[in-house]
Amino acid sequence: MSETTADPRLEGRQVRRVLYDERAIATRVAELGAEVTAAYPDGDLLVLGLLKGSFIFVSDLVRQIRRSLQVDFLVASSYGDATVSSGNVRLLYDPETRLEGKHILLTEDIVDSGRTLARLVKLLRARNPQSLEICALLHKHIATELEQDVRFVGFDAPHEFLVGYGLDHAEKFRHLPYIVSLQ
Ligand code: IMP
Ligand code: MG
Repeated sequence: MSETTADPRLEGRQVRRVLYDERAIATRVAELGAEVTAAYPDGDLLVLGLLKGSFIFVSDLVRQIRRSLQVDFLVASSYGDATVSSGNVRLLYDPETRLEGKHILLTEDIVDSGRTLARLVKLLRARNPQSLEICALLHKHIATELEQDVRFVGFDAPHEFLVGYGLDHAEKFRHLPYIVSLQ
């Protein structure tokens, strides 16, 4: 803990606790890569990362998947308003890769309410992929809006606000190689 609180990347912010250090993340991401490899014996696999939070996770995960694949990203508009109907998610960046007929692995940093994913799943299903599964590094298990199970989960996360390894607070701390909760 003392080495992380002295980390200049934290800008003096107090760390409540270190949840996952670099080694724990690397071990779990390698296991997830093996799970994904085993789950897709054939067909075209497209790992679709949801930006920005998944950028580090995706880059590590795909290097642990031992089969051919494609990588693309999408950027969804965020609605703070729960009254917006679920069909209305807007993509600020739409993947250029064709989704039809492919196995899509929608990859997210963390599932909290699940609202973002619930909307995206609907939108992506309409493009007729062969399959659509969700992979999340962290899952808080409080999602009420997500009907589809998260097929691949890195860690069951506590109900705390986490930063690092792609996760931000006000766009900061994404570059921490470990995941902590802040005070
Ligand atoms: P959801 O739609 O409520 O599931 O929100 C998911 C998104 O909220 C994630 O992709 C993150 O960008 C953000 N988020 C949720 N929980 C946390 C957290 O603990 N730390 C940082 N970002 C979070
Ligand atoms: Mg965020």
